[in-house]
Amino acid sequence: MSELPLQILQAVDKHGSIGNTLEAEEFKNVDSGALHASLASLWAKEMIVFDKIEKDIWALTKEAEEFLTSGSHEIRLLDEVLKSLDGLKISDVNAKLGAVGKLGQGKAFKNGWVAKDGDKLVSKVDKLPEDVVVENLKQIKATGTLDDKKELTELKKRKLVTMTKQIGYKVTKGPKFGLEIKSYETDITSDMVTTGSWKDAEFKPYNFNSEGVFPNSGALHPLMKVREEFRQIFFSMGFTEMPSNQYVESGFWNFDTLFVPQQHPARDLQDTFYLKDPKHAKIPEDGAYFENIRDVHQDGAYGSIGYRYPWKEDESLRMVLRTHTTAISAAMLKKLADDPKPTRLFSIDRVFRNEAVDATHLAEFHQVEGVLAGYDITLGDLIGFMDEFFSKMGVDGLRFKAAYNPYTEPSLEIFAYHKGLGKWVEIGNSGMFRPEMLEPMGLPKNLRVLGWGLSLERPTMIKYGVSNIRELLGHKVSLDFIETNPAARLDDDLVG
Ligand code: PHE
Repeated sequence: MSELPLQILQAVDKHGSIGNTLEAEEFKNVDSGALHASLASLWAKEMIVFDKIEKDIWALTKEAEEFLTSGSHEIRLLDEVLKSLDGLKISDVNAKLGAVGKLGQGKAFKNGWVAKDGDKLVSKVDKLPEDVVVENLKQIKATGTLDDKKELTELKKRKLVTMTKQIGYKVTKGPKFGLEIKSYETDITSDMVTTGSWKDAEFKPYNFNSEGVFPNSGALHPLMKVREEFRQIFFSMGFTEMPSNQYVESGFWNFDTLFVPQQHPARDLQDTFYLKDPKHAKIPEDGAYFENIRDVHQDGAYGSIGYRYPWKEDESLRMVLRTHTTAISAAMLKKLADDPKPTRLFSIDRVFRNEAVDATHLAEFHQVEGVLAGYDITLGDLIGFMDEFFSKMGVDGLRFKAAYNPYTEPSLEIFAYHKGLGKWVEIGNSGMFRPEMLEPMGLPKNLRVLGWGLSLERPTMIKYGVSNIRELLGHKVSLDFIETNPAARLDDDLVG
């Protein structure tokens, strides 16, 4: 253990108290942090009481140190003037004194020591006065301060002195003062209870001033905060949340029901994660629907000529990590066929894609997806609805670009102007679901469905100023980042 606590007790014992540790010989050079730690531990044992004393300590700058040996600039100038009996030529000042001359000249004029006579400086005093500046500097050097505060400010202005704060302590005896530092019990143990030793044990008093340890608590991930904002927007527009808590799907629900042909590149190993065990799903309960899907792909149906390829049951039943939440939307729309009516559904959940990982892509991300079913709705409704949806988060002035999805026709990519980046960025994908998808489910022809999707990560990264997705999601994320981030509000800085 450090000797410091004992030294403190001894000093208090000897002098009755310590007025200021900064002035006490034995503590003058002790680091104030170490001093504070020792004082606090003695105080906790009620052996002493202490108060902080803050003191401004003034020190001389390098220039001021020079004054101590050579005199102030103004005295040196006056000295030269007095030495030259006819006055000192102004043009000679620089040669004689260098920079000191110019600085001293100003002060000497101000003090009324010299005057100008033609091209010369003449003295207004007959002998060198006391060098007050140097006297003041000496006092500061010895005591760390100057009684004349006006002069002190003046010296500070001339950059001759600088101030640092020093912390000292006033220490007096506490109720349990003594020279022996006891260690107290801090906690009652089961051992003490069984042996009865607690009766004689001395316990450390409670420190009710201690701030204590900050309690550990859970924190919402920024993605979850932004997700909550999106949920509120959906709820405010009359949407119901879909049950999306299932990461594994069959190819049937992830692709076939969405009229994604079995040769489509998205179904490639490079793009999709396939499960090894179990490798295949069971044939869906609704066997007629399963056959409808085969028909619409292979031979064409519902007025569509289909893709005309040999559709494989085996391929359809392969298990995948869902590549989009549209698999959930498909299952929910299929259910809607039991009782068809205008409907608004959304989901926000995780999807997986077998992609190369870089600063903006991971093999998994979250999709925000909405589907809206209504009688005889058109592409105009889709565009109008997108304008309304995105304006709820402060994103206005959308642009749309024709795109392709196997399950929507027409399909539109949604763009917004990013003020920060100074360019148009894609913020979503949308479209009117195809009859090849809706009619095999048994939905009436005129109940049309529009849908759209966007990533949750992109707005979250913009919102929280994260440029590398690995700082947002995955094992490299700093817990501090998660714990200290504020709640999110979706407003105009989302895209701008
Ligand atoms: N599934 C699409 C995607 O992954 C999003 C989307 C959903 C597009 C619904 C149209 C309709 O980007």
